Amino acid sequence: MSAEPPPSARCEKAPLPSARPQWQALQQHFGRIGGKHLRELFADEPARGEQYVAEAAGLYLDYSKQRVTDETLSLLRQLAVACGLPARIEAMFRGERINVTEHRAALQAALRAPTGERILVDGKDVVPEVHAVLDRMAAFCDRVRSGAWTGHSGKRIRNVINIGIGGSDLGPVMAFEALRHYSRRDLVFRFVSNVDGTDFAEAVRDLDAAETLFVICSKTFTTQETLTNAHAARDWCLRALGEEQAVAKHFVAVSTNTAEVKKFGIATDNMFGFWDWVGGRYSMDSAIGLSTMLAIGPEHFRAMLAGFHAMDEHFRGAPLERNLPALLGLLAIWNSNFLGAPTVAVLPYEQYLKRFPAYLQQLTMESNGKHVTLDGARVDYSTGPIYWGEPGTNGQHSFYQLIHQGTQLIPCDFIGFCQPLNPLGEQHDLLMANLFAQGEALAFGKTAGEVRAEDTPAALVPHRSFEGNRPSNTILAEQLTPHALGALVALYEHSVFVQGVIWNIDSFDQWGVELGKALAKRAVAEITSPDTPELGHDSSTNALIRRYRRLRQPGT
Ligand code: F6P
Repeated sequence: MSAEPPPSARCEKAPLPSARPQWQALQQHFGRIGGKHLRELFADEPARGEQYVAEAAGLYLDYSKQRVTDETLSLLRQLAVACGLPARIEAMFRGERINVTEHRAALQAALRAPTGERILVDGKDVVPEVHAVLDRMAAFCDRVRSGAWTGHSGKRIRNVINIGIGGSDLGPVMAFEALRHYSRRDLVFRFVSNVDGTDFAEAVRDLDAAETLFVICSKTFTTQETLTNAHAARDWCLRALGEEQAVAKHFVAVSTNTAEVKKFGIATDNMFGFWDWVGGRYSMDSAIGLSTMLAIGPEHFRAMLAGFHAMDEHFRGAPLERNLPALLGLLAIWNSNFLGAPTVAVLPYEQYLKRFPAYLQQLTMESNGKHVTLDGARVDYSTGPIYWGEPGTNGQHSFYQLIHQGTQLIPCDFIGFCQPLNPLGEQHDLLMANLFAQGEALAFGKTAGEVRAEDTPAALVPHRSFEGNRPSNTILAEQLTPHALGALVALYEHSVFVQGVIWNIDSFDQWGVELGKALAKRAVAEITSPDTPELGHDSSTNALIRRYRRLRQPGT
């Protein structure tokens, strides 16, 4: 990475993708095949289920239930090439400053590069630094896990509380839940993110401060929520333990901002660093994953990194035809921009992945919720769809009704594993039978004729018919291991990048969160000072603040 943005990362004026002939070719193609039902597509190509599949890094992707033909895929690849996807992939892996608005690289792949690989940033190989931090993390985790690291009063650490928000929370909490099976059950892990005092109060209410370690995670170490909770933690700890020196045994920090960490009172010995080329939502495999490593141990953590790396290698090297992240990304473009689907449901049939949809929400929507291109032009197509979801089978008894029979098209990603981590009678087979059944029902539905043939009263036929033709992907892996989780997260990270490249947006900045932060700063000064004379907001905000003040401090 050099000081000047290299040519391929510069904001060159590119045409809007929608103005490219390849985009228009896709529109015309949609006109021809958009009306085709998945029933017809499977009738035309009975072996689709074995043909529209791809496999890498232990993940198997079946995209046969997408409303695409070979021609659709070929046109999508042509669009990808016209938008420069192969060059942009290389630019990312070479550490070019592809985050143009912040003039930074997006080099998450360096976090999982094995020793010996060389990745240059400003002419310096960063891989040794990455491994030096990993080794320090491992040594620290071993000490905590073995009991060699004790609290201020000499008691063993039994509770770990991660304080962070956004990427400094969602990755750690998702990974902890996903890999709980591999975690130390004699350690308690909790995650505090919300500035709502309830989050912190509930996290510590039954804990002994003498046995509690706080991991304060913040890339910037200036985030209001995290710093507020970190100060609350410090007060709570010092109230119980009495002495300022206790901080050294009960607080560690993960950040890129050494000065702010010191200012908070955490010594650099207790700080684990990372770099500006790691975006918050791409940081769960950096030192931000310290709580994950404390839970599952260094060996499992390294296995997770190997899973990430396997998917990185595949993404960088595999042809677009069988490149999983490229396929996932291009299919998302097809569904969103040509079929008009405004959302994507992510449905893991694996209880341990219960926080995976929440994690994906930041990854996908903070990355691709953008309305201008790299060179600032307003887009005239939709970008980043809304991602949401719940683990199966719970969702089936909640919102699947709308997916099956509602009026919106909601493409689904089903995620399942062949080997259960908690075999219990036939329950895993039941779980997976549900996954397979949902994909089938969504794709093929049930015609009015089929419903009538079951002697259904005529008035009920429309209600009991299923149109089908709802597209889905199915991602299968052998078992939820640390390696599989790494591969799965990297699959989505890169798929988000592919979509961003097609839309020609910056998937690595997040300016949209700034306005609310600034207005909240102003509002907090007003609502905490009853003497603020004039409120200068709109009439709605003024009235809400006045009402809040009255009820917050009755009698003033
Ligand atoms: O406000 C959004 C954001 O900047 C995210 O991108 C980031 O993950 C989160 O805040 C937390 O930031 P930090 O790690 O610097 O506290």
